[in-house]
Amino acid sequence: MKREQWNSQLGFLLAAIGSAIGLGNIWRFSYMAYSNGGGAFLIPYITALLTAGVALLILEFGIGHERIGSAPLAYAKIRKSWEWMGWWSVTFVMFGICLYYSVIISWCLNYFFYSFGLIWGDDPNQFFFQTFLSLTDGPDDIGNIRIRILTGALVVWGLNWFIVFRGLGRGIELANKIFMPLLFILMTILVLWSLFLEGAIEGVKAYLKPDFSVLLKPKVWIDAYSQIFFTLSLGFGIMIAYSSYLPRKANLSRNALLTGIINSGFSLFSGFAVFAVLGFMAVSQEIPISKVVSQSIGLAFVAYPKAVSLMPGGQIFGAIFFFSLIIAGLSSSISIVEAFSSSVVDKFAIPKKGIVTILCLFGFLGSIIFTTQGGLFWLDIADHFLTHYGLVVVGIAECILAGWLFDLYIIRKHINRISSLKLGRWWEFSIRYFIPFVLSVIVIWDLYHEITSPYEGYSWFSIISIGMGWLLGTLVTALILSFKPWKNPRILNI
Ligand code: PHE
Repeated sequence: MKREQWNSQLGFLLAAIGSAIGLGNIWRFSYMAYSNGGGAFLIPYITALLTAGVALLILEFGIGHERIGSAPLAYAKIRKSWEWMGWWSVTFVMFGICLYYSVIISWCLNYFFYSFGLIWGDDPNQFFFQTFLSLTDGPDDIGNIRIRILTGALVVWGLNWFIVFRGLGRGIELANKIFMPLLFILMTILVLWSLFLEGAIEGVKAYLKPDFSVLLKPKVWIDAYSQIFFTLSLGFGIMIAYSSYLPRKANLSRNALLTGIINSGFSLFSGFAVFAVLGFMAVSQEIPISKVVSQSIGLAFVAYPKAVSLMPGGQIFGAIFFFSLIIAGLSSSISIVEAFSSSVVDKFAIPKKGIVTILCLFGFLGSIIFTTQGGLFWLDIADHFLTHYGLVVVGIAECILAGWLFDLYIIRKHINRISSLKLGRWWEFSIRYFIPFVLSVIVIWDLYHEITSPYEGYSWFSIISIGMGWLLGTLVTALILSFKPWKNPRILNI
């Protein structure tokens, strides 16, 4: 079977950016900057981007392109015994992250429609947790399925299916060629609009006022590095699959640098919309900004709806905001479905359309648990474990595999032969020593906190059964997949 190929390098670049830009850019980065020294946070953040993020992204592009394969195939071509690691990355992302990510997009879809009528009323907090989610007391009690959320999830999986099913060029590439420019336009409207609100400047000041003393705190650096790994979709097997579809001559390192810069630039930019709105809310309610600041779910589903209710034309503002989240989210979720299905196609040589259909069906079924009344707790725990440990472990493994068990110079030479931005010895140093070191510090730091205080005060039982269960369950699945024979073993020869 002939490998699919991007129609253009621009299409590839937009798809990589689409995967990188997700909910995290809009609802997480700005809070992180605010709570880690404002503008001063840009120093560790940009350092992390350039010393680790882009370097690892170049490696992933390089592995996928030089070995010509999705993560399991590319790893197997380096060392057969490491194939399972490739499977594990695409499995925990597909049957972990993507399951709840799609449910969050479903919430956004519901809230998109709610915006037009400001349905959440005067108390968005109570509306979200009680009326919308009807949240139970804890993860042990999952309650019933929330039909609206389930319906939204069905639509989201339908869209995931529709886009990936159409094939690389007419599906993912075309979708990103529409989604990315649209997202930039919508975000620009939100930023400009919000900057004209009263109190916006207070918000922006809170967002970016630098406090350089934080630079001495290790936590700030750790946060910066973790955020960079997550936001660039590293360790997910996505970038490996995407670059394997490039023609033999492709500007890998320049595309990696551009993906990194545009992704971080987008985060910084959207932070203006987030904080200008928070500033507006603080001023209009006459409370200090520190009282209204929030992130992730609290920001999108409580703080923003509240602000939207207070501003003139809020209905439209809210609809644009939730629509942006939907686009940012979809362009990431399709990249996961693609990474997994291309792995199956590589190994079992089954026609892709069939795989995508079955995969999205299973994906939808797997999402159901997160659409229940206790779903938010499950989401919270699964997310914590998968993104904190799965991702980081795969990142370390990647560096060991490419940097120590393989001649990294082969990949460097390959990249330098076809790219305009030449890699020096620093790159090999970064992959072999620096990135594994940083990622190890992050895991040890996280483990230490895990043991000293259970995550968010959940019971050990829930943490171990849900969090560790998810990690182990996907690991076992990955091992099984890697033990199955290759349909066409010749594909393993380079
Ligand atoms: N980079 C994405 C973000 O910041 C993370 C992600 C990528 C999540 C792909 C899921 C799938 O939100």
